[in-house]
Amino acid sequence: MSMIAVEEVSFGYSREQRVLHDVSFAIRSGVNVGLVGESGSGKSTILKLLLGLARPSAGKIRFNGEALEPGDRAFMRRYRRAVQAVFQDPYSSLDPRQKVEGIVAEPLRALGIPGPHRPAIEAALHDVGLPMDSISRYPHEFSGGQRQRIAIARAIVARPQLILADEAVSALDLSTRIRIVELLRALSKTMAILFVSHDLGVVASLCEEIIILERGRIVESGKTADILAHPQHPYTQKLLASVPRMPV
Ligand SMILES: Nc1ncnc2c1ncn2[C@@H]1O[C@H](COP(=O)(O)OP(=O)(O)OP(=O)(O)O)[C@@H](O)[C@H]1O
Ligand SMILES: [Mg+2]
Repeated sequence: MSMIAVEEVSFGYSREQRVLHDVSFAIRSGVNVGLVGESGSGKSTILKLLLGLARPSAGKIRFNGEALEPGDRAFMRRYRRAVQAVFQDPYSSLDPRQKVEGIVAEPLRALGIPGPHRPAIEAALHDVGLPMDSISRYPHEFSGGQRQRIAIARAIVARPQLILADEAVSALDLSTRIRIVELLRALSKTMAILFVSHDLGVVASLCEEIIILERGRIVESGKTADILAHPQHPYTQKLLASVPRMPV
């Protein structure tokens, strides 16, 4: 059974404007999936639905077979423990008034996991390669790449099964981007990542499977190697042609 099943999901922010059309895909335990498409194709909207921040207007999302029910607090607590997110902007996503210790501990508090939290925080900081003295510092004392490591530490502190990463490396310079992708690759030995990006090259280097989204519709999906070798859809071919050089 899939960990996450998105079943014929449609969604619109208003009745006139549909943003997602009949979207179906699955995420299996331990398998990284890349969600690729141009700006405005609906990638972040899919993550919003997966986080339970909005409800599909049609279709269903399942977690281990159970329908996602944003109103069910017990379910959402279990779900949030399993599914955490990392966003694009490492500057706005961290509360500037909190020390790293408080920021990274946030999911533990929100999930009501009994303390002491310190060992889990230290383990998460260790896993993302931040020094232990980071714990008592504030976000403004860190670079963009380091801030993204803090955001990733927060995402992994409760040891989720899935991380939703929305353009998580797009704001970083090239060498930092490569290092954060390496970090995500190492973390994905123990959890799956749904990696959203308009950058097919980065997705290909990290994800075993790819979903191509065009204007709210999945036009192609499957094994990364197959899709890169034999892109079937003109939109995928266009995306591929716009990748300057494929990193391996
Ligand atoms: N809060 C909102 N209210 C109304 N429309 C929205 C809202 N958020 C997104 N949209 C619209 O939904 C569509 C999909 O947006 P979405 O943010 O999901 O795209 P995306 O693929 O994540 O794009 P990008 O690569 O630029 O982040 C766009 O047409 C966008 O204008
Ligand atoms: Mg987006």
